[in-house]
Amino acid sequence: MDPRASVLTQRLADAGQSHLLQFWNELSPEEQADLTIDLQGMDFQEISGFFKNAMETSSSSKQEKMDARMGPVPREVLGSVTRDRDSLKDWELAGLDCISQSKVAALLLAGGQGTRLGVSYPKGMYDVGLPSHKTLFQIQAERILKLQQLAEQKHKIKCRIPWYIMTSGRTMESTKDFFSRHNHFGLDKNNIIFFQQGMLPAMDYNGKIILENKGKLSMAPDGNGGLYRALGNQHIMDDMERRGIEFIHVYCVDNILVKVADPAFVGFCVQKGADCGAKVVEKTNPTEAVGVVCKVDGHYQVVEYSEITLATAEKRSADGRLMFNAGNVANHFFSFSFLKDVVQKYEPKLQHHVAQKKIPFVNTQGQLIKPDKPNGIKMEKFVFDIFQFAKTFVVYEVLREDEFSPLKNADSQDAKDTPTTARHALMSLHHRWVLNAGGHFIDENGRRVPAIPSLKDGTDLPIKCEISPLVSYGGEGLEELVKGREFHPTLMIDESGVHELVKNGV
Ligand code: UD1
Repeated sequence: MDPRASVLTQRLADAGQSHLLQFWNELSPEEQADLTIDLQGMDFQEISGFFKNAMETSSSSKQEKMDARMGPVPREVLGSVTRDRDSLKDWELAGLDCISQSKVAALLLAGGQGTRLGVSYPKGMYDVGLPSHKTLFQIQAERILKLQQLAEQKHKIKCRIPWYIMTSGRTMESTKDFFSRHNHFGLDKNNIIFFQQGMLPAMDYNGKIILENKGKLSMAPDGNGGLYRALGNQHIMDDMERRGIEFIHVYCVDNILVKVADPAFVGFCVQKGADCGAKVVEKTNPTEAVGVVCKVDGHYQVVEYSEITLATAEKRSADGRLMFNAGNVANHFFSFSFLKDVVQKYEPKLQHHVAQKKIPFVNTQGQLIKPDKPNGIKMEKFVFDIFQFAKTFVVYEVLREDEFSPLKNADSQDAKDTPTTARHALMSLHHRWVLNAGGHFIDENGRRVPAIPSLKDGTDLPIKCEISPLVSYGGEGLEELVKGREFHPTLMIDESGVHELVKNGV
């Protein structure tokens, strides 16, 4: 055995992980070399500390206590696009002002594995079947381009919104390759900064690392809260500082309606002097799979749907609404100085959450087993676990139909949050934009389609209408294109003009 391997053998024995070398003699020299590299890069003491803490905090008695410690978001930290309509324009202007000074960055969390959607490539590369066939990455890139333009037009200075994209070991190469094949969707590639989050091994309930084959550990990204460690060890905070970034909009890859670097949200947080903010939609169904922003022991936190009992999820306030109704849409605002403190001081204090999973493994006979019930855990930090450290925390409530339609699952009957629901959400938003700008739709018989579509005979399908983000970021600037005009779906509005793709129905 390689002399370095014997040092390693001892380290593994000390850590109680000797089983990882049980198939050593059956591996090829290349496989032995790969396994050695993987093991040498691992801090077993740290991993076993993570395991112990995570298992302790996830015990069910602690979880039950969580329900009793929860309190709703107080009204005074809440801003709302519906209740505070009068302030909305001010917030938007304040946000655009910051953007025009190149103080705002967007940060995309794209290190997930998209297991539920069931694709082998990064979720951002998914095409939900819009008339344009744009992917999630392209839609987001074009929103950034448009927002830069809007800020430039308003303030007559050139600006940029750097786009930080966090990937994992599994998604980095394909993501970068996709961007470069698409010419970075028209953005300046120097303003797109990819960085990689860490990975952690999956473990059985006794803290033993699981082998996914004879020479390979079962590894998974360390959760979207792996962000903070990665920001430090990949020198991203230095990059932000160099660029003069003061405010950061962090968001998840899967929401087709996401308003990247949303000026109104940024402006609201800045005007409130917040160091940290969360965008929410009203949760109306107790069993909806979203986390809720709330207070736990007096500190702000998101409690995931899997972490509370149904009884708590169903609790209602006097007005009949759910008591915990601030549904987290995974859109967060951070000031640069807060983020820097998090990376330097608070990150090590964050606990891993435990997800019990069915993890394929090789048994002692070397056979691959695919378990039918959970046999181990994956450990993840969550991006919102740092809310507790904020000095001024605010919550910004938006309308679900305007801003939230995540892509989580593959299409199937009764499935929620699918390519179909995402596509429909975007098209119905754009339909409403056209109506608001004074345009109309007509059906194959030449009749005007009512503004509120009928639900009978499957006609609840949305009008096919897609507006390129390069034309409109949030519904603005459409009047000159559509006012007083009638359109046959499919309507496409892009930089080259207004197009009816299928005339007279079909
Ligand atoms: C997430 C939120 C949940 C919210 C919901 C709304 C977290 C922890 N949970 O839940 O509160 O209600 O979105 O849609 O944020 N990711 C990484 N690295 C990882 C794991 C995930 O970058 O190691 C990224 C994914 O690529 C994705 C995002 O984080 O962009 C959310 O991950 P996902 O696993 O889909 O979170 P949900 O459970 O849906």
